[in-house]
Amino acid sequence: MTDVAIPPTRSGAFGLAVEAIAARTKVRPIAAIILGSGLGALADDVKEPTRIPYAEIPGWKRSTAPGHAGELVVGSLSGKPVAVMRGRLHYYEGYDMADVAYPVRVLAAWGIDTLIVTNACGGLNPAYSAGDIMVISDHINLMAANPLRGVNDDALGPRFPDMVGVYTEELRALAHEVDGGLREGIYVAVAGPNFETPAELRMLRGLGADAVGMSTVPEILVARHMGMRILALSTVTDMATGIPGQIQHVTHEEVLEVAGRTGKRLASLVKGVVARL
Ligand code: HPA
Repeated sequence: MTDVAIPPTRSGAFGLAVEAIAARTKVRPIAAIILGSGLGALADDVKEPTRIPYAEIPGWKRSTAPGHAGELVVGSLSGKPVAVMRGRLHYYEGYDMADVAYPVRVLAAWGIDTLIVTNACGGLNPAYSAGDIMVISDHINLMAANPLRGVNDDALGPRFPDMVGVYTEELRALAHEVDGGLREGIYVAVAGPNFETPAELRMLRGLGADAVGMSTVPEILVARHMGMRILALSTVTDMATGIPGQIQHVTHEEVLEVAGRTGKRLASLVKGVVARL
């Protein structure tokens, strides 16, 4: 007989985390916002912020990036109560997928039903340019891992979640209403941490993806599992086409630089969307 360990009900652990957060603020957010690489500036726009270091929330892991321990900023943005995650966990840091996605489970358990995720990505669609912002319409998960693996907690969501219409149409329409110059396309998630080879980039484009990145999908999977409304926005920080003659080297510094430069536009976009929620 195989001996399968049944983990203690996970909803219990989330309960402790929710209690720890709720004890620090009277704000009850309607939306959670995850800020990606180089996009942290938006957290400074949160009014009357309560800053909760990740280390003070039970079960919530810290980012391994030096100086980026991360904090949850709860307050008001565009006049609406929000919770902003400054700093996210990545699978390539060595965390389990369940750890990467844990914050979203906590925020959903706290009662937040709308998730806005941002990230930096490489552009695969040759019509794109560095600095473009893409609304994610669908994704391809090539991380070869899934936070929903394991015993399902039926209290959180179904064993086999439907993945049609994950990226809420109404929220995508709102984003386009706020900023008329957005791209919309398919995001493929890879595990990283290396950037892709030119052959891999050509393959990813061939699979139908418009952009490639190393985050977002774990959080989206648990958000979908728990029935959240989802908007995901990708800043194209570099063109990663793998097309001979156009092949460019990519560095993390370049990714951060372009993400930072696009940060103002992305911040206005997120604030505009939040104002209309
Ligand atoms: N590939 C994968 N992830 C990324 C890239 C890229 O080119 N740019 C920013 N994140």
